[in-house]
Amino acid sequence: MDIHSQSAHTGLMTPPVHRHLSPAGAVRLLGGWHAGGPAYGALADALRAAVLAGTLPPHTRLPSERELAAALGVSRTTTTAAYRRLRDLGFATSRTGSGTVTVLPRPAPVVPAAGRRERAGDAPVPQPPPGADRADLVDLSQATPPAPPQLHAAYARALEALPDYLASGGYEPLGVPALRAAVARRCTERGTPTTPDEVLVTTGAQHAVALLAGTFLSPRDVALTQSPTYAHAVQALRDAGARVVGVPVPPADGPRAAPFDVELLESTVRRLRPRLVYLVPDFHNPTGRSLGPEERAAVRRVADRHGVTVVADETLSELALDGAGGRAADDGDVPPPLAGDGASPHVVTVGSASKAFWGGLRIGWVRAHPDVLAQLARTRAAVDIASPLLEQLAVAELLDVRAEVLAGRRALLRERRDTLVAALREQLPGWTVAAPPGGLCVWAGLGRPLAQAFAAAAAAEGVLVNAGPTLTPDGGSADRVRLTFTRDPADLERAVPRLARAWARVS
Ligand SMILES: Cc1ncc(COP(=O)(O)O)c(C=O)c1O
Repeated sequence: MDIHSQSAHTGLMTPPVHRHLSPAGAVRLLGGWHAGGPAYGALADALRAAVLAGTLPPHTRLPSERELAAALGVSRTTTTAAYRRLRDLGFATSRTGSGTVTVLPRPAPVVPAAGRRERAGDAPVPQPPPGADRADLVDLSQATPPAPPQLHAAYARALEALPDYLASGGYEPLGVPALRAAVARRCTERGTPTTPDEVLVTTGAQHAVALLAGTFLSPRDVALTQSPTYAHAVQALRDAGARVVGVPVPPADGPRAAPFDVELLESTVRRLRPRLVYLVPDFHNPTGRSLGPEERAAVRRVADRHGVTVVADETLSELALDGAGGRAADDGDVPPPLAGDGASPHVVTVGSASKAFWGGLRIGWVRAHPDVLAQLARTRAAVDIASPLLEQLAVAELLDVRAEVLAGRRALLRERRDTLVAALREQLPGWTVAAPPGGLCVWAGLGRPLAQAFAAAAAAEGVLVNAGPTLTPDGGSADRVRLTFTRDPADLERAVPRLARAWARVS
């Protein structure tokens, strides 16, 4: 199906369908939907809340009224009335032959004409008004931890090793052998046997995602991501000309908490035939969720069955924060790799030194079959040719002492997460604030779809945050904001009263 040939939805046109929700999927999604009152109203409200939260994205065909009634154990009259109410509220349309399809009650994002690129980078973080004191600003939109104390010594050792490389030209399109070997060792240790020739070093994970997008995608292709997701990945996929469609990741808190719905992923893959699926499997940015072992195996089966390339972005994977029984996390709390035993040629892994070590290093990597890496090396020839050599050597040194670096990093982030979570729970009691088990951010639930207005009000108060819809390819998650906890605790303490003032203004 060529989705570009379909119209954006309006009152009269049939919206494109990106996926089907099965009756069993609806039961999982809706959980304990009937809290009281008329059943049809409660069901419509639960469906509407799921659309607003992004767990039931627009362009999803709902089960038929009869199927949903049977799955939920209610009468057909209830489901018919619920769908009618959902339509009246502007969250669904129905057409004979195409069933009931979810939509957002506002103009849909513009679907580009065939071959035209969607505009990238239109997910800005609201900024304070001109003339505001920027030195006083607290930026909770960037997930950027400070450098660890071991960084300087790693650079010093890298400088000592540098003379061995000075007789070469310094260009290593696949990466410096010492770093390729160190990354391969870490992948193997985590459970995916890897040889150095299966590793290509990049200039950060962002560069890796952009290279993969530029290599695998053409302007008419579809790419899937989780929704919400890491916004600059969506931008890279769009920059390669792809149409990006989201598969929902439910937040880890609240009554509708459910695992990532691989069935829905497969339904979307079957329907849209994407060339690439981009996932953040571990301590997902922004929800903090990790795929379970069964979900990982199911994703690999989807990749192999449909021959679609799944890119697993492991930038955050080492950032486990909680161990069993309340103790600090260690390597045992890092989830198993999505690539599993590494046998699937369709699963490609992206890694990074930015969050485990430091963003200023600008070093990342791709783990894939050597033939794929050769293609990527050709693509990068027109972009950056190779990554800086000294930084590669420094990262190889840091990987040698990674246990020590990560112990400090996890303790620092755990303290900052706990500071932010405690302050939010105290000063914004109406919000839902779960402490993520890993990663760099809190995905706070506002309880109302006011994220954009709140982010603007927070900027006026001197705090930068990401509104949920800017982290989704489809404008969902309007009731969520992302707050990073990488700034120091004093800044976090300073920010929360400002957030409370901003919330009081918009709510
Ligand atoms: C999931 C994810 N991938 C990639 C990146 C960017 O990584 P890098 O600094 O290595 O380019 C980020 C940064 O926040 C991220 O959260």
